[in-house]
Amino acid sequence: MKARNICVKLRRKEILHGVDFDAEPGKVTAIIGPNGSGKSTLLKALSGEIQASGHVSLNGRDISGLKPWQLAAMRGVLPQASTVAFPFTVMEIVRLGLANGLAAGDDSLPSKALAHVDLAGFEDRSYQNLSGGEQQRVQLARVLTQVWEATYNNQPRWLLLDEPVASLDIAHQFTVLGVAREFAAQGGGVVVVMHDLNLTAMFADQVCVMSDGAVWGSGTPATILNNHTMRQVYGIDLPISTVPTAQVPFILPQAMQ
Ligand SMILES: Nc1ncnc2c1ncn2[C@@H]1O[C@H](COP(=O)(O)OP(=O)(O)O)[C@@H](O)[C@H]1O
Ligand SMILES: [Mg+2]
Repeated sequence: MKARNICVKLRRKEILHGVDFDAEPGKVTAIIGPNGSGKSTLLKALSGEIQASGHVSLNGRDISGLKPWQLAAMRGVLPQASTVAFPFTVMEIVRLGLANGLAAGDDSLPSKALAHVDLAGFEDRSYQNLSGGEQQRVQLARVLTQVWEATYNNQPRWLLLDEPVASLDIAHQFTVLGVAREFAAQGGGVVVVMHDLNLTAMFADQVCVMSDGAVWGSGTPATILNNHTMRQVYGIDLPISTVPTAQVPFILPQAMQ
């Protein structure tokens, strides 16, 4: 995936100022940055959900030339917040992924996807009565149903996830990020907006740091998650050490005196 010179204007205000962004199949690429730095807006531009100037290409094809069904076959999108206005069951939500993707007919996928996000048996539950974290995993199951195979016609598919673990407990954070890693291991591409820097360090191959609607820097977790980045982008001074077993940075939050 390649994005060049992406500018987004919302209500006459420029939100993204000429963003270049690259992500490779087989890898998990995280987008991090402070609140309001433009992460969700960038993800929406990459998915083709909002008007943006510049170019985004998926597997070498400019997304502006793709029909909605072609886009839906190539990438699944998990938005930051999904509101569901009607009293749907979990199964009804997850089956929306079947209608979207190319897997139409394979009725076993929704249940497989639910099991993947640790929601086996939730099929008949009312979506609205689930916890926030459970709802988030239902939405991920919908997206997985849409792009179940990580490749299609020998081309990678893409998962675009906006803060998929924000309201999850630690075990389910690992479940969901494990699903993302597995998708990448099977040849798909994953772009994921993250807040937790330590989880980012553990699970991402590449990190893109946003600040004020622009890319501030990018690199591997080991090169970009350092004191300089913390000070410049987040305005905080925190000790950073390295996880001995994984050789990735570890940022220890501690009360500042
Ligand atoms: N629909 C909109 N209209 C006007 N401004 C918006 C809209 N959506 C987002 N913004 C603004 O754009 C900036 C970036 O938002 P967003 O991409 O959601 O940030 P992030 O995901 O990094 O927290 C914020 O200042 C936000 O207030
Ligand atoms: Mg956001």
